[in-house]
Amino acid sequence: MPTHHLLIVYHSQSGTTEAMAQAVIRGASDPAVEGIEVRVRAALDAGPDDLLWAHAVILGTPENFGYMSGGLKTFLDRSYHACLAHTQGLPWALFVRAGNDGSGAVGSVERIVAGLRWRAIREPLVVAGPADEATVLPACEELGLTMAAGLEAGVF
Ligand SMILES: Cc1cc2nc3c(=O)[nH]c(=O)nc-3n(C[C@H](O)[C@H](O)[C@H](O)COP(=O)(O)O)c2cc1C
Repeated sequence: MPTHHLLIVYHSQSGTTEAMAQAVIRGASDPAVEGIEVRVRAALDAGPDDLLWAHAVILGTPENFGYMSGGLKTFLDRSYHACLAHTQGLPWALFVRAGNDGSGAVGSVERIVAGLRWRAIREPLVVAGPADEATVLPACEELGLTMAAGLEAGVF
């Protein structure tokens, strides 16, 4: 029986963040890690109930106009007040895909998450500019696996 709930919420318009998300999901669903239920939501379909269910969350977004995507922003807008009193300390991680920078997306998510008082388990995974999928996807899998294994072990 799964005892820990891991939520993965992401937005992707043209598919590159989607590919990262699928790799994160693969890592989080590694059969070597037991007792983790992984829930995956497109950001536009996700809401506060998903966060209230979660023991940890991984967010993913492209950088759009120097900020997180509108899809992820509306999820956080719709969830913030409903979750503020209930999700403090939630372990979280972030992955970002960007054409050439990524820092605006990271900073915009981190500002909101700082208000929520979630607890980062590691530095954001940022892929900016042309990238070799052969290195990107394993890094994404490692992110998912790290979160799942840490939850299983009670580290987070
Ligand atoms: C409307 C729009 C705005 C963008 N703005 C930025 C930006 O400010 N900085 C950047 O590095 N890349 C920017 N990009 C590039 C995207 O971050 C990049 O193409 C990313 O891989 C798209 O992810 P997706 O395929 O998951 O939608 C922008 C792309 C779009 C479509």
